[in-house]
Amino acid sequence: MKYAAIPRDRLPALLAHMPKTELHIHIEGSLEPELIFALAEKNGVALSYPSVEALRAAYAFTDLQSFLDLYYAGASVLMNEDDFYRMAMAYFARAHADHIVHAELFFDPQTHTERGVPMGAVIEGLDRACADAKAHYGISASLILCFLRHLSEESAFETLQAALPYRQHFIGVGLDSGERGNPPEKFARVFAQCRALGLHIVAHAGEEGPPAYIESALDELQVQRIDHGVRCSDDPALVRRLAASGMPLTVCPLSNVKLCVFPTMQDHNLATLLHAGLCITLNSDDPAYFGGYLLTNFEAVFSALPSLGAQDAWQLARNSIDASFAGEPDKAAWRAALDQVFDQALAGA
Ligand code: HPA
Ligand code: ZN
Repeated sequence: MKYAAIPRDRLPALLAHMPKTELHIHIEGSLEPELIFALAEKNGVALSYPSVEALRAAYAFTDLQSFLDLYYAGASVLMNEDDFYRMAMAYFARAHADHIVHAELFFDPQTHTERGVPMGAVIEGLDRACADAKAHYGISASLILCFLRHLSEESAFETLQAALPYRQHFIGVGLDSGERGNPPEKFARVFAQCRALGLHIVAHAGEEGPPAYIESALDELQVQRIDHGVRCSDDPALVRRLAASGMPLTVCPLSNVKLCVFPTMQDHNLATLLHAGLCITLNSDDPAYFGGYLLTNFEAVFSALPSLGAQDAWQLARNSIDASFAGEPDKAAWRAALDQVFDQALAGA
């Protein structure tokens, strides 16, 4: 707890400058309205909104599905390899500004292949951006292919098959889209095949869905991280299990408030879960839709939750490094850089 002595007025600088990773970002959710309109015009795609302002004004969501409807409409402007590259490079510029050293990007191939976009255009565009993120910004970046859980098991198997020629370009698989009525076990056989292929495994669970979905993700899919997971608090035994196992939760605070998972940020349970010993990480989810990128999430949380201090800032950044799928030498270097930022603040405290 040595960083607890750092006063709260040092927090803004620490949150900004501490090295951090981002483990829960849907790259299609980083498409800003300006880029949606630019790509729509270039590709001759019709949009239902007359202007950037009108589109942004429509970003008032009542639940996950009300967001997903707009999110899939926005993603419909992505047609070729360069579109995916541009989208991801715009994200990496923001990530660099927020001192993100490593990012694991979710992408939703079915959203694109269903419209006739080739799998290769999606993955090669994103992969080229990941390589340039390293070259331009020093950010290490990798891709996690997500299956849409509102679609069938058969569609997930077909998607995996279509992605296998690009196997070296993605490190893992995840599960996203509408949670209610689509429990993790629906995809148990697909994920078993993915595990056999040596892919990392994550899944959205307990965002809107019940604690049983978190248990199913753990037991049936054998996930290495739970995406969201905040509804674990409805089951104290599950909270104890998550703490004891060190299972990371990739929590997305601004997303949770925008999608009415919590009425306000003051009501968010992440500080309680963090102080109960869970491996909590902070993430932006769909930053173009939810009001901010990763640093904005940190700022919102630390201004709304008075129980969080400098030690918690360090722990959240440290968890983000530990929970990543990066290699050990990189992780060791980021941990040392993180400690250096906090040791300097402590020396000046
Ligand atoms: N939840 C589920 N699916 C998603 C999300 C989310 O927050 N964002 C993009 N796809
Ligand atoms: Zn998500």
